[in-house]
Amino acid sequence: MRIDILTIFPEFFSVLDVSLLGKARQSGLINVFVHNLRDHTHDRHNTVDDTPYGGGAGMVMKPEPWGEALDAILDETTSDVTDEAIDATGDTAADAVANDAGPLLIFPSPAGDLFTQKMARELAAEPHLVFGCGRYEGIDQRVFDHFASRGRVRLVSLGDYVLNGGEVAVMAMIEAVGRLIPGMVGNPESLVEESHEDGLLEYPSYTKPSSWRGLDVPPVLLSGNHGAIATWRHDQQLERTRRVRPDLLPPANAEPAEGVHE
Ligand code: ADE
Repeated sequence: MRIDILTIFPEFFSVLDVSLLGKARQSGLINVFVHNLRDHTHDRHNTVDDTPYGGGAGMVMKPEPWGEALDAILDETTSDVTDEAIDATGDTAADAVANDAGPLLIFPSPAGDLFTQKMARELAAEPHLVFGCGRYEGIDQRVFDHFASRGRVRLVSLGDYVLNGGEVAVMAMIEAVGRLIPGMVGNPESLVEESHEDGLLEYPSYTKPSSWRGLDVPPVLLSGNHGAIATWRHDQQLERTRRVRPDLLPPANAEPAEGVHE
């Protein structure tokens, strides 16, 4: 997978070099390119924002640097087939052209569709993601409208709260998506058994010692009875989900938690 990130704070993304994602980058499973939006400004102050038309607080990101920067990425990755640009995965420009849907442009925004595990799975199947990190009061709407007329654009929200900019949201999305790419997580079973993969929150986990500060591991987990363990874990998932996130359950399952212990 190729990932391009456009930001006025490229240094934010140096953390991508560590941990699991760092390994994925080294092995070529994920190729990340971080671009500075200010490289696409042409004034002395490298201006990327201006006051909003119609008045109001804050500043809006100007369309021209975004247009130029995104054009450069699109031109580079969907350029002439004879151009033998080979990246670390061995993908050529021809591979990019073969994906006729083109890259998916994602702009983190509190006004976007909610980012979920389901969306993370969809994004993990994409060969090329381009993330545009907005700052201030947002990006001039025409940037979204223009690139939506040329390809696929999604506004994506991390949740019902407001961040100062898209960088942290992009980091979260890359981590959620990156670990779903085949070959990324050592034990694929650990992907299946975690929160949200089956629509439920995950069950509580325990390791040795079996007794710690007066708290014992639930005896069923020491029983060796795999059927009983699976049932207990599923019950725990249901109870936890009913208690903490009843909104995740279909209506018939979302009775009050008391019913779980009958
Ligand atoms: N940018 C600002 N707030 C955001 C949010 N909640 N999700 C994604 N991007 C954002």
